[in-house]
Amino acid sequence: MKIIIAEKTSPAAIKMFRDEAGWNVITAEQLNGDLAAQLADADALVVRSAVDVNSKLLESANQLRVIGRAGVGVDNIDVAAATKKGVVVMNTPGANAVAVAEHTFGLMLSLARHLTRADSTTRAGKWEKKSLQGTELRGKTLGIIGFGRVGIEVAKRARAFDMRVMANDPFVSQEVAHDFGVTLANLEEVYASADYLSLHLGLTPQTEGMINQSAIGKMKKGVRIINCARGELINDAALVEALKSGQVGGAAIDVFTTEPPKDSALFACENVVATPHIAGSTNEAQEAVGTQIAQQVIDFLKSGVARNAVK
Ligand code: MLT
Repeated sequence: MKIIIAEKTSPAAIKMFRDEAGWNVITAEQLNGDLAAQLADADALVVRSAVDVNSKLLESANQLRVIGRAGVGVDNIDVAAATKKGVVVMNTPGANAVAVAEHTFGLMLSLARHLTRADSTTRAGKWEKKSLQGTELRGKTLGIIGFGRVGIEVAKRARAFDMRVMANDPFVSQEVAHDFGVTLANLEEVYASADYLSLHLGLTPQTEGMINQSAIGKMKKGVRIINCARGELINDAALVEALKSGQVGGAAIDVFTTEPPKDSALFACENVVATPHIAGSTNEAQEAVGTQIAQQVIDFLKSGVARNAVK
């Protein structure tokens, strides 16, 4: 078998493939920028989020059987084109959920306590004790859009902060939400109630641009928005306008429509905290997504069992 690991992946995951007798494993460092040529006779391709697995690239994959995404979002993979070629696409839902949930709280606390400004001004020799007075998370309402594995981990942590949690997810039952102490509500209700709104849903044609001028207009004045899901969920122009008017009190953004972002208008807003798509980047999560996808790909190639296949 020939396996291409096209992006930096945990050494434990690479070892799992190399331990398979006779398997030829090509890592990102060995590709020399020639993924298309190497893909011609490969059986499996493993990626994270940086490699664009588009239909053109797939044209060169003559015997590819599986694409493993070490992570959750598959928006960098043309799943329809892969499926048409009979290539299974699989991901690792849940493996980085705790990492993303913890980063979400880091960002939420950063917004509540002005942590990034506190750091830069203190380093600059200023002592902005008065203007940096914050607010508590306790007693605030957190609205979670998308109550999957990450949303659930966020909700569990929110309860430890004594927050009230509302969630919107058309695929989740009241019973499941209730088990996590969460009130399930429609989008309008969540928008109208949330002091903090955190996005934890995938990018689809239905969700693209959902946080637009109209949605923001239905939100509580001063709402703080956290996005650790996908940049395209938010209409940046609408968010910038709302940040300037005070309709949105702050935004913490880990994901961007173009990554890395070039001259994002968001960076001109003081009440924005930005991080470079690192919510899922912890040692533990990268080990988990790497070894989980390695096991899934190995199982598929050896026995045809496709776990976490994406359609
Ligand atoms: C995911 O989709 O798993 C996260 O956004 C992290 C990543 O892109 O690797």
